[in-house]
Formats: sequence, C-alpha cells, structure tokens
Amino acid sequence: MLPLALICLLQAHLAYAQASAPLSLSLNSLYSSYPTAHARRPALFSIPVAQNASVSVALCASAGSPPRFLLSNTSAVTHPTDGDLGEEGVYEIVLGSEGYGWWTGPLSEGGFLSVENMGQTPFEIGVSGDGVMHNVTDSFPLLGDTTNNQALLFSPPLAPSPPLAVPSYPNYTLPPANLSYPSAPSSLQFNVSIFVAPTSALGSASMPLTACGMRSSTGDIKGSFMYDETGSASDGLWLKDEDGWRWQWLISGLQPQTNYTAYVVQNSTKVSQPINFVTKSATFSCPIVHSLPYCPSIAYAVPISPPLPPSIAHTANTLPLSTVSPLLEVLSNFTISLLTSACGRDEYSPLVSCADCQAAYRKWLCTIWFTRCSEGADSTATPTVNTAQQPLSSALAPQASGAPPRSPGLPPFPQNFDTLLPCLETCTAVDRACPNFIGFTCPIPRFNARSSYGVGFIDSGDDGVQGQGSTGVAQDQWGNVWCNSG
Ligand SMILES: *[C@@H]1O[C@H](CO)[C@@H](O)[C@H](O)[C@H]1NC(C)=O
Ligand SMILES: *[C@@H]1O[C@H](CO)[C@@H](O)[C@H](O)[C@H]1NC(C)=O
Ligand SMILES: *[C@@H]1O[C@H](CO)[C@@H](O)[C@H](O)[C@H]1NC(C)=O
Ligand SMILES: *[C@@H]1O[C@H](CO)[C@@H](O)[C@H](O)[C@H]1NC(C)=O
Ligand SMILES: *[C@@H]1O[C@H](CO)[C@@H](O)[C@H](O)[C@H]1NC(C)=O
Ligand SMILES: *[C@@H]1O[C@H](CO)[C@@H](O)[C@H](O)[C@H]1NC(C)=O
Ligand SMILES: *[C@@H]1O[C@H](CO)[C@@H](O)[C@H](O)[C@H]1NC(C)=O
Ligand SMILES: *[C@@H]1O[C@H](CO)[C@@H](O)[C@H](O)[C@H]1NC(C)=O
Ligand SMILES: *[C@@H]1O[C@H](CO)[C@@H](O)[C@H](O)[C@H]1NC(C)=O
Repeated sequence: MLPLALICLLQAHLAYAQASAPLSLSLNSLYSSYPTAHARRPALFSIPVAQNASVSVALCASAGSPPRFLLSNTSAVTHPTDGDLGEEGVYEIVLGSEGYGWWTGPLSEGGFLSVENMGQTPFEIGVSGDGVMHNVTDSFPLLGDTTNNQALLFSPPLAPSPPLAVPSYPNYTLPPANLSYPSAPSSLQFNVSIFVAPTSALGSASMPLTACGMRSSTGDIKGSFMYDETGSASDGLWLKDEDGWRWQWLISGLQPQTNYTAYVVQNSTKVSQPINFVTKSATFSCPIVHSLPYCPSIAYAVPISPPLPPSIAHTANTLPLSTVSPLLEVLSNFTISLLTSACGRDEYSPLVSCADCQAAYRKWLCTIWFTRCSEGADSTATPTVNTAQQPLSSALAPQASGAPPRSPGLPPFPQNFDTLLPCLETCTAVDRACPNFIGFTCPIPRFNARSSYGVGFIDSGDDGVQGQGSTGVAQDQWGNVWCNSG
C-alpha cells in the first residue's frame, strides 16, 4: 500500500505529463479544437521538420478574451510561453481583427506551438508546406442576379477557361450556333462553399470572419447559411466567360428587399473578399435564366413566364423553343455571312479574327435577346464612383405590362417591369471585332444610344475611352448594377 499522499502526487504528475505531452500535427494537416464538456483540450503541439513551413491559426467563435499562440522553431524551447518571447526562435502568432494569424519560415529542427489563455474559444491550426492555409484571398465572388427570394452567385474563378479555338485556312470552321458545352476540367482539387448572411445581422454579430467562424455561426446569425458544392441541382461548375470556370449556386429562400453579404470559402480555410447584393421587392416577377450553353454569360432575371415546377429558374431544358430557335437561326445566319469573307486568309485586323467576331456577336445577341429585368436602386444606396459627385442611377427603362417586347425572341410580359439596358460596350465590342462588310454599327452616344443602351458607365460616354466611364464597371461589389453586360 502506498501512502495516500504519494498516490495523489503520482496522479498529479501523470496528469501534468498528459497535459504537457505535445500533440503532433503532420505537415499539410488541419487541426480543429472545439471545447467539449469532458475532454481536456491539448494546449501544446509539435510540428515536424519542414524547410518552408506555414503555421496558421483561425478562431472559430469569439468566446471571451482570445487565446494567444506561441511558436518555437528551436529545439531549445519545447514549450514556448509568454516569458520566452524575445528569445531566439520564439514567436507569437498575432491574430488580426478577422481572427486569423500565421507564421512562415524554416522549421529545420521542427517546432512547438502552445496555446495560452485557451478558455472556451474554438480554433483551428493549419500546418502547411505549401503556403498559408488560413488566409483571405483577394478575389471576389460574382453576382449573377437576384429575384425577390433567390440569388444566382458564382465563386471566384477556380480554373482557367480553355483558349478560344483558332481555326485556320483552308478548313476555317466556327463553333455552331447551338454550342455544345466544353467539359469541365476533371482534375480540379478543391472544396468550395458559400456563406450568405443578411448584411445587417452580420454587422451586429461578433463572429470572426474566418471559414470555421462562418460555418459555426450559421445557427446564430438569423437568415444566414452556408452551402457546400451541392446546395441544389442547379449548382455546378460553369464557364460564364473568359475569366474561367466558376462554381455556380442558385440560392432560394431569401427575404425580399434585403441587403445580403456573401463570402466564398475554398478548401474549408481560404475566405474570399465579401460582396453585397440586394434582393428585389416582393412583387418582382421575372424568373432567373441561366446555364445556357449557347449563351453562357446569361445569368439574370428575364421577363418570361416562369418554368413549370419543380424548376425554380429557367435553364436550356425549360426555355421555350419559340425563344431559342430563332436566336440560334440568327446566329447561324450571321456565321454563314461572316464565313463568306476571307476568314483566316486576308486578315481584316492584326488583332482580331472571325472567331473573335462571332464570339462578340454571340454575347451581344444573347444580351439583346434576353432582356434583363431590374428595379430602381434602393434610395439609400450611395454608389462609389470615379468621377461623379452625385449618386448615379442604373440604366433602367420602364416597360408597361403587355407592351411590345424589346427582344424579338420574347412574348409580351403581363406585368410592368424595368429593363436594365445592355451596356453600350457589348455593342462596341462587336463593332471592334468584326469586319466592316458585316455592316454592324452601334448607335452614337450623342444621339440615340441612351434609349437602347447604358452609356458612359464602363467607357466614357462621348469619346468612348475604354474604362474611363463613371463607374468603369457594369456592377460593383456593393450590390449596385449599372447596366447589363450580358
Ligand atoms: C527559425 O525561424 C527564423 C525566422 O524565420 C529563421 O531565421 C531560423 O533559421 C529558424 N530556425 C530554425 C532552427 O529553423
Ligand atoms: C518558400 O515559400 C515561398 C512562398 O511560398 C517561396 O517563395 C519560396 O521559394 C519557398 N522556398 C523554398 C526553399 O521552398
Ligand atoms: C494571403 O492571400 C493573399 C491574396 O491571395 C496573398 O497576396 C498573400 O500573400 C497571402 N498571404 C500569405 C501569408 O500567404
Ligand atoms: C475541319 O476542322 C474541324 C474542326 O476543327 C474538324 O472537325 C473537321 O474534321 C475538319 N475538316 C477537314 C476536312 O479537315
Ligand atoms: C486546395 O487543396 C488542394 C489539395 O490539397 C490543392 O491542390 C489546391 O491548390 C488547394 N486550393 C486552394 C485554393 O488552396
Ligand atoms: C473536401 O471535403 C471532403 C469532405 O468534406 C474532405 O474529405 C476533403 O479532405 C476536402 N478536401 C480539401 C482539399 O479540403
Ligand atoms: C441544341 O443542342 C442540344 C444538344 O446537342 C439539343 O438537345 C437541343 O435540342 C438543341 N437546341 C436547339 C434549339 O436546337
Ligand atoms: C436565315 O437565312 C435564311 C436563308 O437565307 C432565311 O430564309 C432566314 O429567314 C434567315 N433567318 C433569320 C432569322 O434571319
Ligand atoms: C449593402 O450594404 C453595404 C454595407 O452596409 C453597403 O455598402 C451597400 O451600399 C449596400 N448596398 C445597397 C445596394 O444598398
């Protein structure tokens, strides 16, 4: 029988040994630490030898004063504490206001990470030999459009678009009007999710703006949610334009006339820049049209009757043939006359080819064909503009219920709505890319262009200097959409 005091001492020693034995983290691993009622959480970690290591930490919730993270990359200090700071090889990983911090450098003797003041705060540790795992990227998600309760959103580009095929003489062929869609790259290695929250709720929440913070706050922030790759059947990779492949989400169940904020998270750790978007008012009745292989950039609300349930937005499978067939015929006829020129032989320009001309014409035609529905901007919006001193308004044109449609491919729409006019630049792009004999001309800003186009937003109005318009863009990241860029 051992004396009781010795047993206590032994137990205390065992407990101390358990608490101080570091948990080893391997290279390229992500460790999550969530408080539970009974288990003791490790507060010391060992990290293997690596020539170029990144150790990152992210808080997943704010619970009292945040923990501190101390790192040693010298075998002389195996349990770095506050008192060791200042010694060679001991560093503090300081957390920024968003709840992230990281250290990068050589771990030629391995390393130790200790957590002080751990409290109840959940956190993650990422150890990587290949760049910082927890990080804010400088890319933005992209808004397609909203209805009163839906939003079509895209991730930042995940893979480059395939190069435009350049045909050559004597077999100069152009893509068919009814494009078949390029198959998505199969080698993509990523996880991508989207976090959406009402802007006002997000503003009053104290969550860290980290990926795990977003995931764990969705129950607490009213109206917020996070979707992974498969939120709905419409989700998937889409090649909207030459920016590259993006993930597409069609989100429903939103509140009308509400400003939302969205972030995209890659690989469960990297957070994009935020974008804002505003849902339309409750009476808005145009459905979203998207995922059309022959018009890949169309991703917005169109004045056409909604698809039959269970579809909640139009795609190539639900649009009526009476809308699509004439569009494809116009595009085929255009291609035939384009090919009567000396495509691939006598170049009409050193910069552009018949293939560029067809692509620009396709984009313009789709933008004209699929009229865009919109609404007057919320009067509280204060757009950020390059030059103008007063708030700008979008290029809207009212369309009365049953009036002859602007598009040759759409029937009259039985409700009043506002059209968001195409940006003049979708037209001037065709003018620039196509040979003169095609006879394609755009209206002139000084005369009649404003009745059918948004003028002066992207390029300056009168002289058309590129990028010198009042906003320089068709839409911004705060939810303002100035003209329809298709
Ligand atoms: C620890 O990191 C510092 C700063 O990056 C570096 O100069 C030093 O060589 C590293 N020490 C070891 C033992 O790897
Ligand atoms: C370490 O990583 C940085 C940034 O990722 C890179 O620029 C550098 O070349 C790498 N060094 C080694 C030795 O791999
Ligand atoms: C974080 O991401 C930004 C944007 O992608 C990049 O410029 C920066 O170098 C990254 N930071 C680190 C520490 O890797
Ligand atoms: C012409 O090119 C197309 C596409 O590049 C190809 O499918 C077709 O077989 C070629 N035709 C001839 C006669 O070479
Ligand atoms: C995501 O993780 C995969 C596999 O670890 C890696 O190849 C890819 O570069 C990562 N992507 C990003 C955006 O970090
Ligand atoms: C992506 O998610 C799956 C399942 O959630 C996970 O097994 C995988 O490791 C993740 N990949 C990356 C690169 O994060
Ligand atoms: C376009 O092509 C697809 C697949 O090749 C076909 O199913 C569809 O009917 C075509 N659309 C039209 C309007 O011809
Ligand atoms: C396309 O060309 C054919 C043959 O020239 C013509 O009959 C048809 O009306 C044209 N279609 C359109 C929509 O212009
Ligand atoms: C949405 O909210 C953000 C942040 O408060 C604001 O900057 C933006 O202007 C708002 N957008 C609109 C269209 O009201």
